[in-house]
Amino acid sequence: ATASAAPESRYRFDELTWGNDETHHIANGYEADVLLRWGDPITADAPEFDVMNQTAEAQLQQFGYNNDYVGFTPLNAEGTHGLLCVNHEYTNEEVMFPGLGRQDKQGFAGMTKELIDIEMAAHGGTVVEIARDASGKWAVVRDGAFNRRITPLNTAMTIDGPAAGHARMQTNADASGKAVIGTLNNCAGGMTPWGTWLMAEENFHGYFWTDARDSDGKPDLTAHQDAASKKRYGVPGGWYAWGQHYDRFNIDKEPNEPNRFGWVVEVDPRKPDAKPVKHTALGRFRHEGCETTISATGKLVVYMGDDNRFDYQYKYVSNGTVSHTDDANGNLLSDGILYVARFDADGTVHWLPLVHGEGPLTAENGFASQADVLIDTRLAADALGATPMDRPEDAQPRGDGTAYIMLTNNSKRKDTQLNAANPRAKSNFGHIIEIKEAAGDHASTTGTWSILVKCGDPELAEVGAQWNPETSENGWFGSPDNCAFDADGRLWISTDQGSKWGKTGKSDGLYALETEGELRGHSKLFFRCPVGGELCGPYFTEDSETLFLAVQHPGTDGTKALQGFERASTFEDPATRWPDFDPKMPPRPSVVVVTKTGGGRIAV
Ligand code: FEO
Ligand code: CA
Ligand code: CA
Ligand code: CA
Repeated sequence: ATASAAPESRYRFDELTWGNDETHHIANGYEADVLLRWGDPITADAPEFDVMNQTAEAQLQQFGYNNDYVGFTPLNAEGTHGLLCVNHEYTNEEVMFPGLGRQDKQGFAGMTKELIDIEMAAHGGTVVEIARDASGKWAVVRDGAFNRRITPLNTAMTIDGPAAGHARMQTNADASGKAVIGTLNNCAGGMTPWGTWLMAEENFHGYFWTDARDSDGKPDLTAHQDAASKKRYGVPGGWYAWGQHYDRFNIDKEPNEPNRFGWVVEVDPRKPDAKPVKHTALGRFRHEGCETTISATGKLVVYMGDDNRFDYQYKYVSNGTVSHTDDANGNLLSDGILYVARFDADGTVHWLPLVHGEGPLTAENGFASQADVLIDTRLAADALGATPMDRPEDAQPRGDGTAYIMLTNNSKRKDTQLNAANPRAKSNFGHIIEIKEAAGDHASTTGTWSILVKCGDPELAEVGAQWNPETSENGWFGSPDNCAFDADGRLWISTDQGSKWGKTGKSDGLYALETEGELRGHSKLFFRCPVGGELCGPYFTEDSETLFLAVQHPGTDGTKALQGFERASTFEDPATRWPDFDPKMPPRPSVVVVTKTGGGRIAV
């Protein structure tokens, strides 16, 4: 070797060529097989999917829509048999239901109660047993004893932690303030060290409805005592028509119901009869994800973003320590301290505690108790002077005290609103921050931060991108959303460009992003989505031989802005019919399982 030899990537695979077409692509030497599609039966009794004759009853036994987070917990020592846990974030009525275009933003004029029940049953989550066969391929175990759907239609849940039972958590249907039906808009999530599944409730505001409108047609909140809180959370968003048929989603009838959403939900996939629990100690906001790690002193630490322009990065530190037995870990998510991040220009990050009675979080400022601090986490974080970020999406901690924060984009940031950690105005492509917690301890209340990459096309000076210069035209990306580590602690990033697809012309995909050495900030393309689909997951099994990916809403995002796809998709005329390519089937969100041809660890 000579001194000028190009540094070698730690990720051993030949980069995929960027592009955009009707199907998915994986790097040479790998297989990407569709494992589960929207509508696939997940119980022994489930009917086969019949897209022209959908019912809520059938959907309750079938894989849900818009798969986002994917987690896995093994049932055997070899890790060849286990439980896949998948979030179903939201629904795209225009491609789910024949003859139904997206008619307005005020609740879909064509939505009947029957269709609403189907889409409620398509939200939530799925637990399903999967196993590798003799050839090494993964398949669903349809009669698995643990298989179940979790939905906002009919899954009873418990509320715990400091806000449980508070007057603001009580409704006509639940005087206890501790019992709620269902979970909403579950985006990313996490698996705990004890094998439970955390589902993050993200854009819950969009499901609430009001008939009280001002002269501009905007929600009129004057009848609400907590109007400032509702406004700060965007309640009611009016994205769905559910509130026209269910009182609990109509704030005129149930003004407190929105306070029972926006939390982190814990599900024990090994206990199919156990009620999921909403943990109020982890705060209420548009939770993107909730990835966990164990601190140097054995505490559970959870990193969580609030995915909204100018909102904040949070972390939660348990008071007790992780013992790896089910029982002893019972209250780690109920008893702890929630912090919000302030990123200073000198490169330090300060984690500010959201504790009632400390600093400005007092009754005089509208926080009568810790329940108020948590129900109004955003208002409490405002009072503490947290740093307004460019939409914090997934955040991934690594055991060594490092964490990566995905900031997806913020086209609304003005020149006058820049800060050191969010340095670009009108940021269309986002950036990634690396945090090193003090003493390598995730429970530290200070650390240092730096920008790992600024995303976007490095060839365009006006974009202001920052990549390792070895990054190729295939390797750069925009709008980081989810992230994961493989078994070697190497970082992988998936993208969600949303309406910004046309700004790169690239499909969403999975990228291997170097964090160490000479190639720090170097990115390589490994997988790309069919047109209009965003990439979620990703999740590596413990042996790194399997990678689960979730292709969400194929055929929908940004297609109007792309050459060759200049139309909004509908059931009848989608931009792609991935993965079935059946002229009678709409595109279907699906989980894809990636393995190396012939077996072995991925990218090794
Ligand atoms: Fe559901 Fe923030 O993406
Ligand atoms: Ca996301
Ligand atoms: Ca993740
Ligand atoms: Ca997303």
